[in-house]
Amino acid sequence: MHKSSPIGDVIIELTEIDSTNNYAMRLLNEGMAEHGLVIRADFQTAGRGQQGNTWLSEESKNLLFSIVMDTVRLPVESQFMLNAMTTVSIANLLMTEYHIPDIKIKWPNDVYAGKKKVSGILIENQLRGSTWSNAIIGIGINVNQSNFPDLLRASSILNETGKQQKLKQVLKKFLAIYNENFLTLQTDYHVHFNLYNGLLFNKGQEITFMRNFEMYKGKVIMVNDRGELQLEVNGRIKSFKHKEIEILLS
Ligand code: BTN
Repeated sequence: MHKSSPIGDVIIELTEIDSTNNYAMRLLNEGMAEHGLVIRADFQTAGRGQQGNTWLSEESKNLLFSIVMDTVRLPVESQFMLNAMTTVSIANLLMTEYHIPDIKIKWPNDVYAGKKKVSGILIENQLRGSTWSNAIIGIGINVNQSNFPDLLRASSILNETGKQQKLKQVLKKFLAIYNENFLTLQTDYHVHFNLYNGLLFNKGQEITFMRNFEMYKGKVIMVNDRGELQLEVNGRIKSFKHKEIEILLS
Protein backbone atom coordinates (compact mmCIF):
# COMPACT_ATOMS: atom_id res chain seq x y z
CA MET A 1 0.00 0.00 0.00
CA HIS A 2 2.81 2.41 0.86
CA LYS A 3 4.52 1.64 -2.42
CA SER A 4 1.53 2.82 -4.40
CA SER A 5 1.29 6.06 -2.45
CA PRO A 6 4.77 7.53 -2.25
CA ILE A 7 5.57 10.33 0.11
CA GLY A 8 5.07 13.71 -1.51
CA ASP A 9 2.83 12.62 -4.39
CA VAL A 10 0.45 15.24 -3.06
CA ILE A 11 1.96 18.48 -1.77
CA ILE A 12 -0.16 21.28 -0.30
CA GLU A 13 1.61 24.62 -0.67
CA LEU A 14 0.61 27.36 1.76
CA THR A 15 1.70 30.99 1.86
CA GLU A 16 1.17 31.35 5.58
CA ILE A 17 0.02 29.08 8.39
CA ASP A 18 0.43 28.81 12.14
CA SER A 19 2.51 25.63 11.85
CA THR A 20 2.58 22.95 9.14
CA ASN A 21 2.51 20.32 11.91
CA ASN A 22 -0.69 21.84 13.36
CA TYR A 23 -2.25 22.02 9.91
CA ALA A 24 -1.36 18.38 9.21
CA MET A 25 -2.81 17.34 12.57
CA ARG A 26 -6.06 19.22 11.85
CA LEU A 27 -6.41 17.53 8.44
CA LEU A 28 -5.69 14.16 9.99
CA ASN A 29 -8.32 14.66 12.68
CA GLU A 30 -10.85 15.60 10.02
CA GLY A 31 -10.01 12.44 8.06
CA MET A 32 -8.66 14.61 5.24
CA ALA A 33 -5.03 13.48 5.19
CA GLU A 34 -3.65 10.34 3.61
CA HIS A 35 -0.31 8.67 4.04
CA GLY A 36 2.40 10.56 2.20
CA LEU A 37 0.73 13.97 2.19
CA VAL A 38 3.25 16.81 2.41
CA ILE A 39 2.36 20.31 3.58
CA ARG A 40 4.83 23.09 2.85
CA ALA A 41 4.55 26.70 3.94
CA ASP A 42 6.46 29.86 3.05
CA PHE A 43 5.90 31.28 6.48
CA GLN A 44 4.79 30.03 9.91
CA THR A 45 3.32 32.39 12.47
CA ALA A 46 3.72 29.84 15.27
CA GLY A 47 6.43 27.44 14.06
CA ARG A 48 7.20 24.92 16.76
CA GLY A 49 10.48 23.31 17.74
CA GLN A 50 11.48 20.63 20.19
CA GLN A 51 10.62 21.04 23.87
CA GLY A 52 8.13 23.86 23.39
CA ASN A 53 10.60 26.11 21.61
CA THR A 54 9.54 28.30 18.71
CA TRP A 55 10.99 27.75 15.25
CA LEU A 56 11.72 31.06 13.59
CA SER A 57 12.31 31.36 9.89
CA GLU A 58 12.37 34.32 7.48
CA GLU A 59 9.55 34.30 4.94
CA SER A 60 10.15 32.20 1.80
CA LYS A 61 13.78 31.58 2.69
CA ASN A 62 13.68 28.09 4.15
CA LEU A 63 11.97 24.77 3.79
CA LEU A 64 9.20 24.31 6.34
CA PHE A 65 7.14 21.21 5.82
CA SER A 66 5.34 18.30 7.43
CA ILE A 67 4.79 14.76 6.22
CA VAL A 68 1.75 12.71 7.21
CA MET A 69 2.75 9.13 7.80
CA ASP A 70 0.58 6.07 8.25
CA THR A 71 2.40 4.04 10.88
CA VAL A 72 -0.24 1.37 11.59
CA ARG A 73 2.00 -1.38 10.29
CA LEU A 74 5.06 -0.24 12.16
CA PRO A 75 5.76 -1.58 15.65
CA VAL A 76 5.49 1.09 18.34
CA GLU A 77 9.01 0.22 19.46
CA SER A 78 10.32 1.44 16.14
CA GLN A 79 9.55 5.11 16.76
CA PHE A 80 13.23 5.84 17.08
CA MET A 81 13.81 4.02 13.80
CA LEU A 82 11.65 6.58 11.99
CA ASN A 83 13.42 9.33 13.84
CA ALA A 84 16.87 8.07 12.91
CA MET A 85 15.93 7.42 9.28
CA THR A 86 14.49 10.94 8.92
CA THR A 87 17.57 12.57 10.41
CA VAL A 88 19.91 10.45 8.30
CA SER A 89 17.92 11.37 5.16
CA ILE A 90 18.47 15.09 5.81
CA ALA A 91 22.15 14.51 6.56
CA ASN A 92 22.43 12.58 3.27
CA LEU A 93 20.72 15.38 1.37
CA LEU A 94 23.17 17.96 2.69
CA MET A 95 26.20 15.75 2.06
CA THR A 96 25.40 14.23 -1.32
CA GLU A 97 23.39 16.98 -3.05
CA TYR A 98 25.07 20.07 -1.63
CA HIS A 99 28.47 18.65 -0.66
CA ILE A 100 28.45 20.35 2.72
CA PRO A 101 31.39 19.12 4.78
CA ASP A 102 31.36 18.08 8.42
CA ILE A 103 27.67 17.13 8.62
CA LYS A 104 26.79 15.78 12.07
CA ILE A 105 23.69 14.56 13.85
CA LYS A 106 23.13 16.04 17.26
CA TRP A 107 21.02 13.78 19.43
CA PRO A 108 18.14 13.34 19.15
CA ASN A 109 17.52 14.79 15.68
CA ASP A 110 19.26 18.00 14.78
CA VAL A 111 21.46 18.19 11.73
CA TYR A 112 24.58 20.30 12.06
CA ALA A 113 27.21 21.60 9.69
CA GLY A 114 30.27 21.91 11.88
CA LYS A 115 29.02 23.53 15.07
CA LYS A 116 25.95 25.14 13.48
CA LYS A 117 22.44 23.79 13.16
CA VAL A 118 21.04 23.62 9.64
CA SER A 119 17.95 21.50 10.22
CA GLY A 120 15.56 20.45 12.96
CA ILE A 121 12.84 17.82 13.15
CA LEU A 122 9.70 17.66 15.24
CA ILE A 123 7.93 14.31 15.05
CA GLU A 124 4.50 14.10 16.65
CA ASN A 125 3.01 10.64 17.06
CA GLN A 126 -0.65 9.77 17.21
CA LEU A 127 -1.69 6.68 19.12
CA ARG A 128 -5.07 5.01 18.78
CA GLY A 129 -5.32 2.79 21.83
CA SER A 130 -2.02 0.96 21.79
CA THR A 131 -1.64 1.26 18.02
CA TRP A 132 0.75 3.79 16.59
CA SER A 133 -1.59 5.14 13.92
CA ASN A 134 0.15 8.18 12.50
CA ALA A 135 3.24 10.27 12.71
CA ILE A 136 3.51 13.87 11.62
CA ILE A 137 7.06 14.56 10.67
CA GLY A 138 7.81 18.27 10.78
CA ILE A 139 11.03 19.33 9.14
CA GLY A 140 12.76 22.69 8.96
CA ILE A 141 15.79 23.00 6.69
CA ASN A 142 17.56 26.35 6.51
CA VAL A 143 18.16 26.99 2.82
CA ASN A 144 18.53 30.64 1.72
CA GLN A 145 18.55 32.53 5.01
CA SER A 146 21.91 34.18 5.66
CA ASN A 147 21.39 35.97 8.96
CA PHE A 148 20.23 34.35 12.14
CA PRO A 149 20.09 37.30 14.53
CA ASP A 150 18.71 35.36 17.49
CA LEU A 151 20.73 32.22 17.00
CA LEU A 152 24.50 32.16 17.13
CA ARG A 153 24.78 28.54 16.20
CA ALA A 154 22.61 28.37 13.09
CA SER A 155 23.50 28.08 9.45
CA SER A 156 21.93 27.33 6.07
CA ILE A 157 22.73 25.68 2.76
CA LEU A 158 23.49 29.18 1.42
CA ASN A 159 25.89 29.99 4.21
CA GLU A 160 27.67 26.65 3.88
CA THR A 161 27.94 26.61 0.07
CA GLY A 162 27.61 30.24 -1.06
CA LYS A 163 24.75 29.27 -3.38
CA GLN A 164 21.02 29.99 -3.32
CA GLN A 165 18.67 27.10 -3.98
CA LYS A 166 15.09 26.83 -5.18
CA LEU A 167 13.05 25.58 -2.23
CA LYS A 168 10.92 23.25 -4.35
CA GLN A 169 14.05 21.67 -5.81
CA VAL A 170 15.50 21.01 -2.37
CA LEU A 171 12.20 19.45 -1.29
CA LYS A 172 12.11 17.26 -4.39
CA LYS A 173 15.65 16.02 -3.78
CA PHE A 174 14.83 15.33 -0.14
CA LEU A 175 11.68 13.40 -1.02
CA ALA A 176 13.60 11.19 -3.46
CA ILE A 177 16.01 10.20 -0.69
CA TYR A 178 13.22 9.86 1.85
CA ASN A 179 11.03 7.63 -0.27
CA GLU A 180 13.90 5.27 -0.87
CA ASN A 181 14.79 5.14 2.81
CA PHE A 182 11.17 4.71 3.89
CA LEU A 183 10.74 1.60 1.78
CA THR A 184 13.63 -0.01 3.61
CA LEU A 185 12.77 1.43 7.01
CA GLN A 186 12.26 -1.95 8.61
CA THR A 187 14.54 -4.18 6.57
CA ASP A 188 17.52 -1.79 6.63
CA TYR A 189 17.09 -0.55 10.14
CA HIS A 190 20.68 -1.38 11.04
CA VAL A 191 21.90 0.66 8.05
CA HIS A 192 20.08 3.83 9.18
CA PHE A 193 21.01 3.16 12.78
CA ASN A 194 24.70 2.77 11.95
CA LEU A 195 24.72 5.87 9.75
CA TYR A 196 23.04 7.80 12.55
CA ASN A 197 25.68 6.74 15.05
CA GLY A 198 28.47 7.23 12.53
CA LEU A 199 27.51 10.90 12.21
CA LEU A 200 26.86 11.47 15.91
CA PHE A 201 27.96 14.93 17.09
CA ASN A 202 30.69 14.94 19.76
CA LYS A 203 31.11 11.17 19.58
CA GLY A 204 34.01 10.04 21.76
CA GLN A 205 34.23 13.49 23.31
CA GLU A 206 33.55 14.70 26.78
CA ILE A 207 30.47 16.87 27.20
CA THR A 208 28.88 18.69 30.10
CA PHE A 209 25.24 18.06 30.89
CA MET A 210 22.61 18.95 33.47
CA ARG A 211 20.46 16.38 35.22
CA ASN A 212 18.11 17.21 38.08
CA PHE A 213 19.73 20.65 38.38
CA GLU A 214 23.20 19.17 38.78
CA MET A 215 26.08 19.43 36.36
CA TYR A 216 27.98 16.33 35.17
CA LYS A 217 30.62 15.43 32.63
CA GLY A 218 30.41 12.38 30.40
CA LYS A 219 31.88 10.94 27.23
CA VAL A 220 29.50 10.44 24.27
CA ILE A 221 29.48 6.73 23.36
CA MET A 222 26.46 6.19 21.07
CA VAL A 223 22.68 6.30 20.81
CA ASN A 224 21.03 2.92 21.49
CA ASP A 225 18.11 1.45 19.52
CA ARG A 226 15.61 2.94 21.94
CA GLY A 227 16.95 6.36 21.07
CA GLU A 228 18.68 6.88 24.40
CA LEU A 229 22.02 8.65 24.56
CA GLN A 230 24.75 6.54 26.12
CA LEU A 231 27.34 8.45 28.06
CA GLU A 232 30.31 7.20 30.03
CA VAL A 233 30.06 8.88 33.41
CA ASN A 234 32.72 8.12 36.01
CA GLY A 235 33.77 4.99 34.13
CA ARG A 236 30.23 3.63 33.77
CA ILE A 237 27.99 3.61 30.70
CA LYS A 238 24.63 5.21 31.41
CA SER A 239 21.65 5.67 29.09
CA PHE A 240 19.59 8.84 29.08
CA LYS A 241 16.25 9.63 27.55
CA HIS A 242 15.63 12.85 25.69
CA LYS A 243 14.32 15.45 28.20
CA GLU A 244 16.07 13.62 31.05
CA ILE A 245 19.24 15.61 30.48
CA GLU A 246 20.22 18.92 29.00
CA ILE A 247 23.47 19.08 27.15
CA LEU A 248 25.41 22.29 27.66
CA LEU A 249 27.24 23.46 24.57
CA SER A 250 30.88 24.29 25.00
C1 BTN B 1 13.70 21.65 16.46
O1 BTN B 1 14.86 21.53 16.08
O2 BTN B 1 13.45 22.15 17.55
C2 BTN B 1 12.59 21.14 15.57
C3 BTN B 1 12.19 22.17 14.56
C4 BTN B 1 11.10 21.70 13.63
C5 BTN B 1 10.62 22.82 12.73
C6 BTN B 1 9.64 22.36 11.68
S1 BTN B 1 9.30 23.60 10.48
C7 BTN B 1 7.98 22.66 9.83
C8 BTN B 1 7.30 22.00 11.00
N1 BTN B 1 6.28 22.87 11.54
C9 BTN B 1 6.55 23.28 12.79
O3 BTN B 1 5.85 24.05 13.47
N2 BTN B 1 7.72 22.73 13.18
C10 BTN B 1 8.29 21.88 12.17
